[in-house]
This record gives sequence, structure tokens and C-alpha cells, in this order.
Amino acid sequence: MYNAKAYSAASATAPLASTTIPRRDPTERDVQIEILFCGICHSDLHTVRNEWSALMPTVYPCVPGHEIVGRVTKVGPAVTKFKPGDLAAVGCMVDSDRTCPECKAGLEQYCPNMVLTYNSPDKHLGGVTYGGYSGCIVVTEPFVLRVPPNLNLAGAAPLLCAGITTYSPMRHWGVTKGKKVGVVGLGGLGHMAVKFAHALGAHVVVFTTSPSKKEDAQRLGADEVVVSRNANEVQKHAGSFDFILDAVSADHDINAYINLLRRDGNLTLVGAPAKPLAVAAFALLFRRRSLSGSLIGGIPETQEMLDFCGAHNITCDVEVIPIQKVNEAYERLLKSDVKYRFSIDLASLKSA
Ligand SMILES: NC(=O)c1ccc[n+]([C@@H]2O[C@H](COP(=O)([O-])OP(=O)(O)OC[C@H]3O[C@@H](n4cnc5c(N)ncnc54)[C@H](OP(=O)(O)O)[C@@H]3O)[C@@H](O)[C@H]2O)c1
Ligand SMILES: [Zn+2]
Ligand SMILES: [Zn+2]
Repeated sequence: MYNAKAYSAASATAPLASTTIPRRDPTERDVQIEILFCGICHSDLHTVRNEWSALMPTVYPCVPGHEIVGRVTKVGPAVTKFKPGDLAAVGCMVDSDRTCPECKAGLEQYCPNMVLTYNSPDKHLGGVTYGGYSGCIVVTEPFVLRVPPNLNLAGAAPLLCAGITTYSPMRHWGVTKGKKVGVVGLGGLGHMAVKFAHALGAHVVVFTTSPSKKEDAQRLGADEVVVSRNANEVQKHAGSFDFILDAVSADHDINAYINLLRRDGNLTLVGAPAKPLAVAAFALLFRRRSLSGSLIGGIPETQEMLDFCGAHNITCDVEVIPIQKVNEAYERLLKSDVKYRFSIDLASLKSA
């Protein structure tokens, strides 16, 4: 065991602050990674502030961060796919039971024994797992991903959550050329959804509460942009969508969007607001519409997504910040004031 620098929250109301955390010495199949960049996901904020306490209470101190890109510094003797000096990435999971039907299907995110990158029981060191707001991490090889060498690293880091969380449901629901796809909420997840839907050839319509994001949405690949506070504009799209991805982090009227689906259309929720959303039965009954959820993506699909990004030169639009600005970044995230993901440059941790 050794100590690493990190930023942690001591309670739901405390700001994140500099600390040290234990990391395990790499065992047989472990990969030790020096973290270069870590994205700030809204889930980090939900967790730090214990907003999901009913389902996943936060254990403090909490070190968030699950959009990790770095360089391998050491590998265990049984590791075959990585060597020191290689680029490597870690997303929202660091382990699972690897034996259940979900794991066998490559859908580790639905494994009942999945181990999240932070705030999950740590079977190696006890306590809970600590995430990417730190100088390094040690992860078992099957949960370490390869980063295409052509990608900008600060912009690649958020692919590990924002990227896979939007890519996976689009692949599952068959987003392709000729489909009309809606994206609700142009934040970290939403802007990646626009890039993927565009790259997959769909006609993309963005629904945003922020009129200032209109031009950006078009630059990111949207064919149409609707400011969602304007109900008439929204209504013009009634009954026309094959698929809508809802990536909103706060309470909102989901029925307004279900009503935009055509027959057999699907709305997939990836946003995880703390409070339950009200669903009008008739919005679903008419036109046999469906409402689903989707959680990140499995390891094979995450690698597929990264390779897709390498082939299409897709990264996240990021604002790179030093770790010392993380608390300010959280406040701005709450105001939808980020274009479109904060990416922490962990070199800044050395002077923390
Ligand atoms: N399912 C999963 O596996 C998964 C994975 C990662 C994250 N998440 C969840 O997905 C959500 C989004 O994460 P993120 O990191 O993309 O967050 P984010 O960057 O903060 O984006 C959320 C966006 O939602 C919109 N929004 C915010 N408040 C709103 C309100 N009151 N009414 C309507 N729209 C509002 C804003 O877009 P506009 O300015 O365009 O309106 C905002 O940019 C979070 O709840 C997060 O926990 C889920
Ligand atoms: Zn996330
Ligand atoms: Zn499993």
C-alpha cells in the first residue's frame, strides 16, 4: 500500500479539499496508472452532495471521478495488454463478479456485484473505492481500456462516462441514418449524444433551456435546435421522433418529450435527477411509446466507443481546469455553465 495525493469531500456540505488516500500495490493482474486528466461528471456532484442517498448513500471521505485517462506506470506479472508508458483509461467501473449472465454478456454495468470506481466497497483495502480526482489509480486489467493515440487526452477523458452513456443506448435503440433523434439537455452527456447521433447519420434535434447554446448545438452536429421553454416550438415536433435521449440532471416535465415520439418510439433516460419524475400514462399509451433507462455501458462496448471516436476523431469539448478550481466548477455545473465538460489536469495536483 502507498499514499497518493487526491481531492476529497469530508461531508455532503464540505467543499472538496486536498488530501492523501491509500492505493494498493499492484497485484498479479493490476495496472497502475498515473492519472493525467479526469472529467467532472454531474454524477460526481450528485454523489459528493449525497443527492442519491436513498439508493447509494455516500461514504465520506469521498473521492469522485470516473472519467480517467492516464499513463501506465507499473503492471503486475500476469498483465498482457499493457506495459509501462502506455496510455490507458478507466471509466465508471473497476470490477464486477465476472461470472453472472450480465458479465458473460459483456454488460458488466448490470452486474449485481459491479464495483464502481468510487463509493463502492473496496475489497482490497476495505472502506470504499476512490476515484480519479487523484494522482494515480490501480485497476485490474480487464477494466482498463485502450485510448486511441490520435485523441486529445483532456477531451478523451470524459468519453469514459459521458461518451459511453450516450453511445450505448443509441446503439441499443438502432440510431442510424434516416432516424429522427432528439437530445434533451446540452450538458456533458447531451453534447456527446449530439456528436454520436450526427456521426451515426441521424437527423438530430436538440432541446435546450439555454438560448445561448443554440449556435454551439449546430456546430456540434444538430440539424435543429429548440429552446424548450418555448412550448409552441416543442409542440411542432409532436409525434415525430424515433428516439429521444433525455440527459437532464434536474427535475423537468418528461411528458412533453414522450409526446414527441412517433408510434413505437422510445425515450431513454440517462439523466438521473434526485427526485422521481411524473409520467403521464396516456403519453405512453398513445402510439405504443416506450420509456427506458440506460446505465453507462459494458467494457467491450466502451472499447468499441473509444475506437469509434478514434476512427471519427471525436472527443468531448472541454474546459481544462486545475484541481484547485473544482469547487467553482461544481457551482458552474449547477448553472449549466460549462461548454461542455470540465476536464481536470491532474498535473495541478502536484502543487496542491
Ligand atoms: N445513466 C448513466 O449511466 C449516467 C451516466 C452519467 C451521468 N448520468 C446523469 O446524467 C445527468 C446529466 O449529467 P451531465 O454530466 O451531462 O450533467 P450536466 O453537464 O450538468 O448537463 C445537464 C444538462 O441538463 C440541462 N438542465 C439542467 N437543469 C435543468 C432543468 N432544471 N430543467 C431542464 N434542463 C436542465 C442543462 O442543459 P441545457 O442548458 O441545454 O438545458 C444541463 O446542461 C446527471 O443527472 C448525471 O448524474 C447518468
Ligand atoms: Zn459519469
Ligand atoms: Zn457479474
